[in-house]
Amino acid sequence: ARQGGRRNSAGIDLSDQAVREPLMARLKALESVHWRAEPTFPGDTPGEIAPITMPHDLSAVVGTRRDATAEEVEAAFARAANIQPGWDALGGEKRALLLEEAADLFEAHTDEFLSLCQREAGKTLLDAVLELREAVDFLRYYAAGAREQFGAPTILPGPTGEENSLSLHGRGVFATISPWNFPLAIFTGMAAAALAAGNSVIAKPAEQTPLIAALAVKLCHEAGIPPEALQLLPGAGQVGQMITAHPKLAGVAFTGSTETAQAINRTLAGRDGPIATLIAETGGQNAMIVDSSALPEQVVRDVLASAFQSAGQRCSALRVLYLQEDIADPMLEMIRGGFEALNIGDPASLATDIGPVIDPDAQARLERHVARCLASDRKVTRLSLPPGVEKGCFVAPTIVEIGSIRDLSREHFGPVLHVARFRASELGQVVEDINESGYGLTLGLHSRIAATRRFVQARARVGNFYVNRNQIGAVVESQPFGGEGMSGTGPKAGGPHYLARFATERVMTIDT
Ligand code: SER
Repeated sequence: ARQGGRRNSAGIDLSDQAVREPLMARLKALESVHWRAEPTFPGDTPGEIAPITMPHDLSAVVGTRRDATAEEVEAAFARAANIQPGWDALGGEKRALLLEEAADLFEAHTDEFLSLCQREAGKTLLDAVLELREAVDFLRYYAAGAREQFGAPTILPGPTGEENSLSLHGRGVFATISPWNFPLAIFTGMAAAALAAGNSVIAKPAEQTPLIAALAVKLCHEAGIPPEALQLLPGAGQVGQMITAHPKLAGVAFTGSTETAQAINRTLAGRDGPIATLIAETGGQNAMIVDSSALPEQVVRDVLASAFQSAGQRCSALRVLYLQEDIADPMLEMIRGGFEALNIGDPASLATDIGPVIDPDAQARLERHVARCLASDRKVTRLSLPPGVEKGCFVAPTIVEIGSIRDLSREHFGPVLHVARFRASELGQVVEDINESGYGLTLGLHSRIAATRRFVQARARVGNFYVNRNQIGAVVESQPFGGEGMSGTGPKAGGPHYLARFATERVMTIDT
């Protein structure tokens, strides 16, 4: 995608052996590095220290996280509040140049980021490459937005003799609270947007993935973004709680579970200080509807990618596949054929399609869900795990047949696909049931019938509707991403309205 000459990052061509083999060797050499994450300005009394282990081998330590203390949180807010007016006054053009410099540095440190995506977050190489590309795209896209929206004021009409102008400014100190499933892209995207809009940022990465965030912050500082304007505060939930309760906070950009977004909302409502904005991107109960006009080979490819790529740990991932009754049996057989060919294992191996889930808690939650399905009379198909994965958090990919989306009370964040059947006459009810789940993130449809596409589009309350393709991997600027209802507040990440939500509007009127 392009905007005023901007192009999305080219990424890496992993099919080219001359590129891939040296890259694999360099990644191997990085395995001995011990990474560290600590508060940007460490205080005198250090906080708790936690080892960060690999999701696919819990006995291997990747680095160390040093948690922020209450004093460090307090001092970080004082610094952030102090620098913010100057950062805002710098203007969009200068902030854009710094963000673009950071994008270039991110690309120059590709190997380290890929290594961390694999070792800290358990990502396959393909997912790691896509993640870095997305982070770089966010930096450049929001830089372009800073230039466009945070430059000269917009002149507005007025009676003769009166000049009216509107300008956008940062709101103040913004917190970004980011998830482990896109530890680089979403971490970077939310911080870059808040910075682009003229806020100073306190960034709290997921407790599972602080190391990659620490590298991202370090490179942003090397690019010239003042450390007071972008401060890292690693830690678990209690650090997030201290940040969101702080009276100097002007806004929060959060990506994670719906429950945590609701808890943040309650905290913001109960505290003193500015009325804070909450931008939340949360979960989904994402469905795909396949009718009898769909092309089977395409369906198989897109179902497997949507449900199982990234071990199903994308908020966009397919959770409930609806197959039209007439084609359900042959289609399911083809899907099972492709499913059985999926490789599970070490994300460092190029043959791996599905790596681990993030941690033992996630693994246990998913196993409990599958155990309940097995104990019911539902038909369950599971792959078996290969030998040698016992030290990691692997969940065998699973397909469960259910009656409808109403049988599921919550999102199951991992490699578990639920399949339901519908008759052609029930399409309206299917869309209604999907809407009734309360989530509204992604929806897939495979249909060659234009009237069906229009019918579903007119009724579905979802943020991203994908037709005749997979429903993951939104591209910055081309597919602005985000949902509604229990899936988030909007505006969409990587879209034209995102930066404005991080900003406050000021109008000046001059009577000449
Ligand atoms: N932005 C990611 C995707 O589209 C979601 O988590 O898959």
